Formats: sequence, C-alpha cells, structure tokens
Amino acid sequence: MTHVVDGNAVAEDVRDGLSDAIGTLKAEGVKPGLATVLMSDDDASATYVSMKQRDCEEVGIEGIHVEIDPDAPAEELYETIDDLNTDPNVHGILVQLPVPDHVDDREVLRRIDPTKDVDGFHPENVGRLVAGNARFKPCTPHGVQKLLASADVETDGKDVVVVGRSDIVGKPLANLFVQRGEGGDATVTVCHSHTADLESHTSRADIVVAAAGVPEFIDGTMLKEGATVVDVGTNRVDADTEKGYRLTGDVDFESAKPVADVITPSPGGVGPMTRAMLLYNTVKAASDLAD
Ligand code: GUN
Repeated sequence: MTHVVDGNAVAEDVRDGLSDAIGTLKAEGVKPGLATVLMSDDDASATYVSMKQRDCEEVGIEGIHVEIDPDAPAEELYETIDDLNTDPNVHGILVQLPVPDHVDDREVLRRIDPTKDVDGFHPENVGRLVAGNARFKPCTPHGVQKLLASADVETDGKDVVVVGRSDIVGKPLANLFVQRGEGGDATVTVCHSHTADLESHTSRADIVVAAAGVPEFIDGTMLKEGATVVDVGTNRVDADTEKGYRLTGDVDFESAKPVADVITPSPGGVGPMTRAMLLYNTVKAASDLAD
C-alpha cells in the first residue's frame, strides 16, 4: 500500500509543538510577531499571505500585515522594511515574492535584517545554510525534510533527484540533502529545464522532488518502483469550477501513486508544511528555539 503523506496532519503536529515555546515566551513578556508585506495585485500571492496571517492568529503569533500599492516607488518598500527591522515587536519579516519588476528583489532580500529573515533568503543566511550552519532553513525545503521524516523516509545514502533549481526550493533543498546528518547524507542530482534526459534521472531515483512549477509533468512512467515522491508544486489550471481553476501539483498523482511507496499529494502535502515552518522560524527568531 502506498503511503500518502498527510501534510495537514504533520503541519498540525508542528504547530502543536510550537505552543509550548510560544507559552514560555509569553510568560517572559514576549509575543512573537510576524510581519508580512504584500506589494502585488496577484490573486494567488494575496491568498498565500492571508493564509499566513490566519495561521499566526491561530497559534498566538502577532500578525502584522503591510500592503503597498504595486505601482508605488520601490523606496516605499525599502523604507517599510527599514521600519520593520527596527520594530521590537516584529521578530520575523516576510516580503511576499515576486515583487513588481521596478523593485530590485535582491535589494529587498539584502535589506531585511538577517536575524528577522524567516524566509532564509538573505545572502548571509543562504551562505550559512550552504556552510551547514543554517540560522533559518527556508520554509519549503525544511517542510519537505519534516514530511520525509514523518513518513520514516531515510535519506542517508539515497539517490535524490530534485527537479527544479529555484532559489526558494530547488537550490536550498539540494543543499540540505547533501549535508551531513539527519535529513541529509544523500547523493543529489538537480534537474531543470535544460536537463538533457530528465527521465534517465528520475527513473533511477530513490526520492524524487518535483519543484519545477509545471502542472503534472512527472508521471508514473518516469519513476522507479517503490520510489518516494514529493510534490512541491501548487499550480492553478483552468477548470470548470466556481473559481474557474483547480489546484494541482507537478506530479500526475493518479499514475505516480501506484508506482510509489510514499507520495505527498498536492494540495495537502508540502503546502501546509511551508506555512507551518514559517511559524517555526518566527518562534525561533523570537527565542532560542533549537532546531
Ligand atoms: N513566494 C512564493 N513562495 C514564497 C516564499 O516561500 N516566501 C516568499 N517571501 N515569497 C514567496
């Protein structure tokens, strides 16, 4: 029987585990605070940010939300970040990406105080992650590691194929998988849109992580029998529904499931974990929570 990993349940466990730390902080007079900044009129981005704010409220983190007109000058965003950097009630800052073209996204990431960079995207934090001394593990890669651990999937000595080389998922995840210790010690291949023969890689992998943002492009014929399949994708595809779309992953679940031993669905797999790990990083920023 294929184990379909329930990301909502594992995320719930993570949130439960944070309650103690939040209670201890509150007894010390500290309420963890997360600031989200949205400079976009993209519907999906707005939805993601509002879900993050709702999560905060649920676990007792102070949510602060700032919205900036996407047509405003870039300086407005930079100055908002400066203000949040010095606000003692704000322990974590997340600027929802992508930002408009006239904003320099590298400057945005550099501008955030690295001790409040709960995304883990500041160059200092990227460097620390690669060096094996992460301050904040980026939320989606960390969530993938937790999901695999929850399903007792061993990574030590395994062949892992990460499909996708984004700064947010593919690159940091590949780094975590090669590191020494728990959740690492794997042999990692990173595939992307220029990979000559994708299937030759996925079909020999013990663990395939699909993180390319292309709906249902990994199917069962591309997988080894008994593989673990992690679907990071959340894609909107046109559908005859009330909203005019449905959500689907980068994996064709129906054909992949019979081949896989362990599979994460999308929606309901990695997505809830990303949100839970953001809360984790916020509590970590407000305390000395150990990894
Ligand atoms: N846009 C899509 N994913 C992310 C994320 O993990 N963090 C931020 N800040 N923006 C995103």
